[in-house]
Amino acid sequence: MKVLGIESSCDETGVALYDTERGLLGHAVHTQVAMHEAYGGVVPELASRDHVRRLIPLLERVLADAKCTRRDIDAVAYTAGPGLAGALLVGASFAEALALALDIPALPVHHLEGHLLSPLLGAEPPAFPFIALLVSGGHTQLMRVTRVGAYQLLGESLDDAAGEAFDKTAKLLGLGYPGGPALAKLAESGKPGRYKLPRPMLNSGDLSFSFSGLKTAVLTAARAHELTEADRADLAAEFQEAVTEVLAAKAVAACRQHRLSSLVVAGGVGANRRLRQRLDEAMAKIGGRVFYPELELCTDNGAMIAFAGSQRLLQGEVAESARGAFAVRPRWPLDQLS
Ligand code: KG4
Ligand code: ZN
Repeated sequence: MKVLGIESSCDETGVALYDTERGLLGHAVHTQVAMHEAYGGVVPELASRDHVRRLIPLLERVLADAKCTRRDIDAVAYTAGPGLAGALLVGASFAEALALALDIPALPVHHLEGHLLSPLLGAEPPAFPFIALLVSGGHTQLMRVTRVGAYQLLGESLDDAAGEAFDKTAKLLGLGYPGGPALAKLAESGKPGRYKLPRPMLNSGDLSFSFSGLKTAVLTAARAHELTEADRADLAAEFQEAVTEVLAAKAVAACRQHRLSSLVVAGGVGANRRLRQRLDEAMAKIGGRVFYPELELCTDNGAMIAFAGSQRLLQGEVAESARGAFAVRPRWPLDQLS
């Protein structure tokens, strides 16, 4: 079965073709980073309009790479939420219209379920059950995953998501958008510990997170004196240490509490090298192992949506083309999935 995946929830247009027998046949992503850069963040209306421009050329490219035609597609999976309403509607309309034209089923997919299952696309996929750490621009969550579709929320951020904290702090330090990768790069040349930042909720005894105070602490440090390039690097390094220490400690605590040795990490912040290093070390200490998606599948992409859709279809979920009636869910809690 060949499932086409369509992702358009934010600032990346992703299209992919996944074959349940042969694996990923083709995938292509267009990132809008350059377009939004001038505004210092994602402009929703511009994002929607760009998705409209990109979808057909991306589909053509993926089909050519996969040496397939539209007629080979058996089902279309698309991100129905959470995300920007207008951006989601572009992908949903495209997917539903394509399914209608080809007389095949269309399947709405939860964006975070896509991220969460993306490590299963790797060469050595983890076995169920496992703990998942979802760290993206909009979410920071720990989940217990029993099977495809069964996600128990164990803890999440009470305020800013980890990626959001990276982005906002990067902005404070005068770095461009998207801030996460830029801050991580600056941190490489800095020394942590010279500035002292808090480790929010490290000892709270639960699996909740809070990152908004960190950004304020960085602001206070930045206002205390004129920052040199070296100061900025040291602040970035300390910020990265603070965020990754809390994320790693709570992810390992979740594994211990649930007596599980597999930890899956997904979402954009999962690309952070320091986070990976800390998680690998901490999980090795408890005899566990961390599973990451391929680096190119860490950030938003169509492959994870095609894969999540295919797993649901394999589980016997019946998908039907909505024949013109469909909706997107800009807010959609993952643990409300069935
Ligand atoms: O999963 P994703 O691509 O989009 C959402 O669904 O949100 O995650 C994007 C987030 C952004 O906040 C970005 O700054 C962050 O992931 N990010 C990083 C790194 N690469 C991306 N944060 C820290 N270090 C990185 N290397
Ligand atoms: Zn995402």
